[in-house]
Amino acid sequence: MSALPWSLLPDSAAETDDGSLTIGGCSVIDLAAEQGTPLFIYDEEHLRRRCREASLAFGENSVYAGKAFLCLAMARLVHEEGLGLDVASGGELFVALAAGVPGERLVMHGNNKSLDEIRAATEARVGRLVVDSFDELARIEQVHRDTGHVFDVLLRVTPGIEAHTHHYVATGQDDSKFGFTLSSGLAAQAVATARSLSGLRLRGVHVHIGSQVFLVNSFASALATMTPFVRTHQLEELSMGGGLGVAYVEGEKAPSLTEYGAILKTAAADAGLEATLSIEPGRAIVADAAITVYTVGTIKEMEGVRTYVAVDGGMSDNPRPVLYGSGYETFLPRAVKADRNRVVRVVGKHCESGDVLVREGRVPDDIRVDDLIATPVTGAYGHSMGSNYNKVPRPAVVFVRDGVSRVVVARETYDDLIRHDRL
Ligand code: LLP
Repeated sequence: MSALPWSLLPDSAAETDDGSLTIGGCSVIDLAAEQGTPLFIYDEEHLRRRCREASLAFGENSVYAGKAFLCLAMARLVHEEGLGLDVASGGELFVALAAGVPGERLVMHGNNKSLDEIRAATEARVGRLVVDSFDELARIEQVHRDTGHVFDVLLRVTPGIEAHTHHYVATGQDDSKFGFTLSSGLAAQAVATARSLSGLRLRGVHVHIGSQVFLVNSFASALATMTPFVRTHQLEELSMGGGLGVAYVEGEKAPSLTEYGAILKTAAADAGLEATLSIEPGRAIVADAAITVYTVGTIKEMEGVRTYVAVDGGMSDNPRPVLYGSGYETFLPRAVKADRNRVVRVVGKHCESGDVLVREGRVPDDIRVDDLIATPVTGAYGHSMGSNYNKVPRPAVVFVRDGVSRVVVARETYDDLIRHDRL
């Protein structure tokens, strides 16, 4: 059976003479020894390149969706590379501001923003507020009466497009908690209401049809569906949200950000869209920039059944396999190009049978206890959706570049686990 497809590794991945893996010129084995495991390792140059690629496509109208992976260093990197930042809660807004991202470069989302969150967005002078509901419009007016602030607003519209992806992350269909439906006339009603209010300037509309979408035609049809609406209501901006898929396992192929940008531009030209186009990729910027490294603790072999390889992390650092049945590859950093002839189930250390990281993971024959084992393409929605289940501290995150590593999120300690407890 085959070695790990090299394309799933971060751009700077390289094999040393002894067959082990380096990323950003740093030995993965040394990093694990210094920082412990589980460990998220991000290739910083890879992140920067993807940001530049997105920025080349739509200039300052390219916005990174922070929910995929956010920490101070990431927020700053995104801003340095010229992208705006999409924040979807008061907490994400706080992180972005703490990193020094100017409010005007922020796009604030959320289907249920509280009055406090809207007030914080006012204070931060966010560049765009993406409004999701009539209740939110009322709250904006309330904040306007108190502060006099006027927001630049996009209305989130659900265009009735079924994106081909997991139903948990499909968001463009009519039956959705998000936004104003196009087909029922709610979107048109929202435009009229927004225009009657003094707390906002209506700039345009926003659509996000779903995440991990491979069929770029879905984006093109959403754009074509929205164009007449944008024209009729004389709106100046159309944000196409995020959603571009990435390859996680052997055999998958996803369009690049450049290809995606070109497809959207062609679709816009075909539809005769005159409004400014913006995009909000998350996963496509960060997913394959990172790997997660674990240590093998237990190998349970059951003749005729299967072999379980248990590692020192699990659903608390990557809940995607459990939540969506997502597939991942696996490999040994000490032998990154080795043939992987054995099929094992890579599981975590949590107290649930469902705590699976890789259902059918291929590994070399000589895998043993204490080996480092890694999963590639874990840069998106792993750390950001992590938890402390079973009081397992969250892993450290390191950025590597030009032979230098820096910790951008420190590993949680046991003290962190009781920091908010009170007896
Ligand atoms: N813009 C909006 C309004 C969004 O809701 C999202 C993702 C994005 C942009 C970025 O989408 P991306 O380019 O990353 O696909 N936890 C799930 C994904 C949830 C996506 C939520 N919204 C997963 O792990 O697959």
